[in-house]
Formats: sequence, C-alpha cells, structure tokens
Amino acid sequence: MTEHQSDDRLLEHDYDGIREYDNPMPRWWLYIFWATIAYSILYYFNVPGIGIGKGRIAAYDADVAEAAALATKNNPFATVNDGVILAAAKDPAKLALGKTTFSTTCSACHRADGGGVIGPNLADDYWIHGGKPLEILKTVTEGVTAKGMPPWGRMLTPDQILSVVAYVTTLQGTNPPNPKAPQGVRADSTSPTPAAARGPAK
Ligand code: HEC
Repeated sequence: MTEHQSDDRLLEHDYDGIREYDNPMPRWWLYIFWATIAYSILYYFNVPGIGIGKGRIAAYDADVAEAAALATKNNPFATVNDGVILAAAKDPAKLALGKTTFSTTCSACHRADGGGVIGPNLADDYWIHGGKPLEILKTVTEGVTAKGMPPWGRMLTPDQILSVVAYVTTLQGTNPPNPKAPQGVRADSTSPTPAAARGPAK
C-alpha cells in the first residue's frame, strides 16, 4: 500500500494504443463501502438502538394513531351527531344560549326571527346546504365564505355553536312574517326549488 505505484498493474489488452490499469480500490474506500452495506442491513431491520427502534411499521402505525387522536382532540364536534344536537334543542339552558347567540351574531343577516334577509330564511323547509342538524352544524362552523356566510368555527365557542345550531333547528315551521323566498332544495325531497317558489336571484 505504501508505494501505490507498485500496485499498478497494466491489463494485457490494447485498443488502438489505449491501455488500462487494473488497480484494487483504496482500503479507505472499501471500508466505507462495507460500512454502508452493514448499515443498510441494520437500517432495514430497524433494530432497537438504531433509528427509532420499534420497527418501521410499528412506528408508522403509532404516528397514524397519534395523528388521528390529535384530529379528534382538536375537533370539539368529533362525537356530535344529529341526536346530540336535537337533544340540545330540548335543553332550556342550551336553547337560551343558542337564542342569545343567534340574536347577537346571526340576526343581522338571518333576521331575529330567522325569516331571512341577507342570508336565507332558516325557518322554512328549503335548504341550500342541507337542513339536517349535522349539515347545519357544518355550514355554521365552516361558513360559505364565497356567498357571504362567515365561518363561525373559530369565532364562537363550541358550546355557542352547538347551542345556536340547536336553536336553528327549532325555527322550523315557526312561519315568521314576510319571510325571504325559499332557496335551495326542500328538506324532504331532492328536487330543486320549483321556479314559482324560487325567490329573486341571490
Ligand atoms: C354576514 C351575514 C351573515 C351572518 C352574520 C350569518 N350568516 Fe348564515 N348565511 C349568510 C348567507 C349569505 C348564507 C347563504 C349562503 C349561500 O348562499 O350559500 C347563509 C347561510 C346560512 C345557513 C345555510 C342555509 C341553507 O339554506 O342551507 C345556515 C344554517 C346559517 N347561515 C346559519 C347562520 C348562523 C347560525 C349564524 C350565526 C352564528 C349566521 N348564519 C350568521 C349570511 C350570514
């Protein structure tokens, strides 16, 4: 190794005067090469003490479970269903909070009695985004920004949102005077609002 010149070995062949050496790889290079092979085996099995230790698949599963738990934790409505909202609509305390929230936050656009002005009538049977309790919850939390309905998810507390949605479900059939013309689809059908019932262009 000391005299690397002495390692030089000319190969027999000769292509139009071009000849080549066949020298062994330097030792340091080979050590690194072997080390990478050894490491790749350890890495493949993800043995404890190297990498994360539990094995790649277990580690991935743990990450996925953690992400799912976080999503549930951050979504205050993860366990809410239609029944929970309808039950809140029978709870006087929730209804009172819902009514207060509605008159302070929603009435400017939907009118104090829900009959509609800038926003649609919430007391009729017609819905643009669906009239099931969970659908109303979704419209209220996410809003319809392009159409002027703000997303309330971060502006109100979860309790206020649940209560105001519960309150909205109680507006059905209250027949407020001079209501805004129906918009959307009748709750009990999938057909669009009949032309005669459709109000002026939104
Ligand atoms: C700045 C005006 C404005 C305010 C304030 C407002 N909304 Fe709306 N809202 C709208 C508009 C406009 C629409 C119609 C969106 C569309 O055309 O897609 C709407 C739609 C809705 C719908 C869906 C109606 C349907 O037919 O599907 C619900 C439910 C609703 N609002 C509830 C609320 C509640 C509850 C609040 C108070 C927390 C509120 N809104 C506050 C303007 C408003």
